[in-house]
Amino acid sequence: MTEQAAPTDILDAFGRPLRDLRISVTDRCNFRCRYCMPREVFGPDFEFLPRDQILTFEEIARLGGLFTQLGVRKLRLTGGEPTLRADLPALVAQLREAAPDTDIALTTNGSLLTRLAQPLADAGLDRVTVSLDTLDDAIFRDMNDVEVPVQTVLDGIDAAAAAGLRPVKINAVIKRGVNDHTAVDLARYFKGSGHILRFIEYMDVGATNGWVLDDVVPAAELAERVAAELPIEPVEPSYRGEVARRWRYLDGDGEVGFITSVSAPFCGDCTRARLSADGSLYTCLFAVLGTDLREPLRAGASDEELLDLLRGVWRIRDDRYSELRSAATPDVASLGPRIEMSYIGG
Ligand code: GTP
Ligand code: 5AD
Ligand code: SF4
Ligand code: SF4
Repeated sequence: MTEQAAPTDILDAFGRPLRDLRISVTDRCNFRCRYCMPREVFGPDFEFLPRDQILTFEEIARLGGLFTQLGVRKLRLTGGEPTLRADLPALVAQLREAAPDTDIALTTNGSLLTRLAQPLADAGLDRVTVSLDTLDDAIFRDMNDVEVPVQTVLDGIDAAAAAGLRPVKINAVIKRGVNDHTAVDLARYFKGSGHILRFIEYMDVGATNGWVLDDVVPAAELAERVAAELPIEPVEPSYRGEVARRWRYLDGDGEVGFITSVSAPFCGDCTRARLSADGSLYTCLFAVLGTDLREPLRAGASDEELLDLLRGVWRIRDDRYSELRSAATPDVASLGPRIEMSYIGG
């Protein structure tokens, strides 16, 4: 693990630098995953953000450029579902111009990737991460609550790889009794494909998914189940703050990761900030309050003024929700209200 500190780096209250900005470009999604946007809550009457409250491409690109001046090395576009934002490749092109040397990635459900992968790559996108929880159509429909065949997502993954958005990472949220029995099939399918599958422990993010600890399959248990059929060994992290624990297949056929936010929180190395679609900055996935950047942006703040604001927010950051949750589980309600993942991005 190499970590080069730069003179412009800012450290938070626990000495963590700012390295990674996740940018939500829309709070809408064409899926209704039960663990994220359950239909009962996000139904026809749900009020999504009005267009004039959503940051423009120019505003996003300007902020992206400013964040790189503070040490950010990765910009990740998320949502909701980012590919629903009209003309997304144009945003990528503007970000690329504002942050020429920065890793730009996209997290998507993959449903629209066949059409968009090439234009996104042409605009300067580096990589994509595609969410896919199972290869079984019936279970997929049950979890993601949408009439999209698994094959559409698999085609999207192929299109991304063909467009050079490699390595493609696949995120699979695992819920006990729902899709955990199909996890090894996913591993087998992606083993040797050049794509990197990561299993995510189901998290208590947001307030609508009815999370209980019993629904979580700890990564250690899942790793054992995978290892029983497909032998693996642990690999060192590739950078400080990497969220996935990496394992490699002993036969050399690639690797698989486990994101252990519940069983082994990684707050100590958390270098991520999140920007909501309406321009608020959050310093934790489980934050309650953000800092409004849209108002100063639209009031004509200078770059220096914005940089000062960002530095101020980061310097006092003391978030470590997942660690506190581990101490408090199962009484997570005592930790207070939280914003939804579809609003702040995954
Ligand atoms: P790369 O290593 O650049 O590919 O990115 P990544 O590992 O950060 O992957 P990604 O952004 O796809 O994150 C994977 C998933 O991990 C997210 O969708 C979340 O479910 C979870 N996750 C990411 N960041 C955090 C975090 O800061 N806190 C918690 N608790 N979970 C996170
Ligand atoms: N727990 C774990 N992962 C989640 N995601 C969405 N909601 C949850 C949750 N409650 C994942 C999505 C996607 C990424 C953005 O976050 O499946 O891969
Ligand atoms: Fe949409 Fe992703 Fe949330 Fe599923 S997890 S509802 S695909 S934003
Ligand atoms: Fe970072 Fe908050 Fe996640 Fe901890 S819970 S890793 S501080 S985003």
